Amino acid sequence: MRRKIIAGNWKMNMLPNEAIKFIDEIAPLVKDTKNEVVLCVPYIDLFYSLLTAQNTNIKIGAQNMHQEEKGAYTGEVSAEMLKSIGVEYVIIGHSERRQYYNETDKSVNEKIKSALKNELKPIVCVGETLEQKEEGKTEEIITKQVELALEGLEKEQVEKVIVAYEPIWAIGTGKTATKEDANSNIKCIRNKIADIYGQNTADKVIILYGGSVKASNSKELFEMSDIDGALVGGASLKVEEFSKIVNYQ
Ligand code: PGA
Repeated sequence: MRRKIIAGNWKMNMLPNEAIKFIDEIAPLVKDTKNEVVLCVPYIDLFYSLLTAQNTNIKIGAQNMHQEEKGAYTGEVSAEMLKSIGVEYVIIGHSERRQYYNETDKSVNEKIKSALKNELKPIVCVGETLEQKEEGKTEEIITKQVELALEGLEKEQVEKVIVAYEPIWAIGTGKTATKEDANSNIKCIRNKIADIYGQNTADKVIILYGGSVKASNSKELFEMSDIDGALVGGASLKVEEFSKIVNYQ
């Protein structure tokens, strides 16, 4: 049985004092959940968030990292740096990074390898644009992204990767994929992983849905056979809304 992960992606929001207040307020509301609760926060908030989340069941993640260990990469942060302060998760290849910061399937693959080497849990984002969806290319696009993201990994490493299927047209738009479409696209990703790494490995990989998830649509999504939780943007900035998503049962 795969566990459910509900991960918030704060994007470029929340000052440290706001992060501290948020975590203080939400911690008692989510303390009894069996689901894994993760907040992926801006770099500047990481340390404050880790301290505030100590002695709670809230895990802290970053939203990006650099693939190299160290060196002359001004402004960048490595996996080892994140690990050294206690970060557990890291989002890799979010569509906003692919779109605005030249993140490619190759850099995504390199980042996943570096994250795993440093014992971070990568949350790897894939998803199609509206145009690709309308051309009927969704399955082709997302399975190719997953294949390239995981290239060169051992089975045991693949099992540690968390995939987030996020249709780009659903991110921040209020338009969610139907639960049937989200589930069938996620199944398609799982089948691709099974083709390459075997069914046993594919059955262990946690695959999230992302794109306008909110309290009012989370339960129906999470009840689908292959949806193992969500990567939540906008709705993760509100204590009450995010706690309801976590406590959907
Ligand atoms: P959204 O963002 O929930 O605001 O659509 C999701 C994401 O970008 O991860």
